[in-house]
Amino acid sequence: MRPENSAGSSQGSVLLGRLANRAYSGTSESNGVVQRLLYQCGLGEDSFRKLHQPSARCFPLHSENGRQLAVQRLQKGDEVHLEDFSCQLSPRSKELFSPYPWADLRCARQAFQVAIRRSTEGVDAAFLLFFEESPIAHFVLWGAGKTLSFRGDPLTIPTLGIAVVDRMHGRGFGKRCIRFLQLVAHRLEVDGVELTVAYQNVKAARVYGGCEFCEVGTLRIPLGVDPSISLDDCAAVNDWRDERHMVYIVADKRSQMVYEHLLLKECAQNSPASHAIRD
Ligand SMILES: CC(C)(COP(=O)(O)OP(=O)(O)OC[C@H]1O[C@@H](n2cnc3c(N)ncnc32)[C@H](O)[C@@H]1OP(=O)(O)O)[C@@H](O)C(=O)NCCC(=O)NCCS
Repeated sequence: MRPENSAGSSQGSVLLGRLANRAYSGTSESNGVVQRLLYQCGLGEDSFRKLHQPSARCFPLHSENGRQLAVQRLQKGDEVHLEDFSCQLSPRSKELFSPYPWADLRCARQAFQVAIRRSTEGVDAAFLLFFEESPIAHFVLWGAGKTLSFRGDPLTIPTLGIAVVDRMHGRGFGKRCIRFLQLVAHRLEVDGVELTVAYQNVKAARVYGGCEFCEVGTLRIPLGVDPSISLDDCAAVNDWRDERHMVYIVADKRSQMVYEHLLLKECAQNSPASHAIRD
């Protein structure tokens, strides 16, 4: 396992500073949810309290057989780990998890650097899961630090993405990583978490359903780019796919607003007018 970085990144943004000082104000109901997620993920309460801090890099998870298992926040120097991780993904997994342009190694390396910068700046909450020395999963809340204005109200709905290396599938790591991201979402007190999953990816949809994500509709997504990129910036993207659109509600009181926002997003992104952007 790589040693934990001792200090916060000098690139840490104002946003991260603000997040670092934020006390968790969970209700008794959300505290109950958090306790269950902590148990399912195998994360300690001390780690949960630090999840939002930019200086907190390493989060050990309980492991049944004494093997080292820990989540690391994506940080400078992780290019090599992202490349190692990507070499362990099958072509099929790369097709299903495609935030990076896998086909072009040079472009993929550039995209890794962008992902690391976004993580250190707090725009995304991005992580690697290490099993002993090896990075076996990469999972992200894209846009976790990005709040938009919806009818005058602030609204934060990051997008979840995950892949586990193929040789480790079916051992419960995927579910634990999703539980970890749900804990990050609760700690950051976002409103909800959205994701899309290919219709043929029945297994992943079942995993998400088992983690309390529910289906809201269909969303057309650009492939090979980070999902939080705006439609206007997707003019050069040639590959798009209609995917199952799902959501996990974090703040029950704001669920109506989350559903409305997602519905409007589907209307805008799936409409022929938006396709004209890339034609
Ligand atoms: C989807 C993915 C992240 C799941 O990770 P994983 O570590 O294999 O999943 P887990 O071991 O945590 O299994 C979770 C559940 O799926 C079930 N499952 C495992 N293999 C399965 C299979 N082949 N078909 C259906 N369900 C299966 C498990 O039984 C478990 O359910 P349970 O807890 O109720 O028993 C992983 O398969 C993956 O990375 N796939 C390639 C990339 C991808 O599809 N990413 C998602 C893009 S949206």
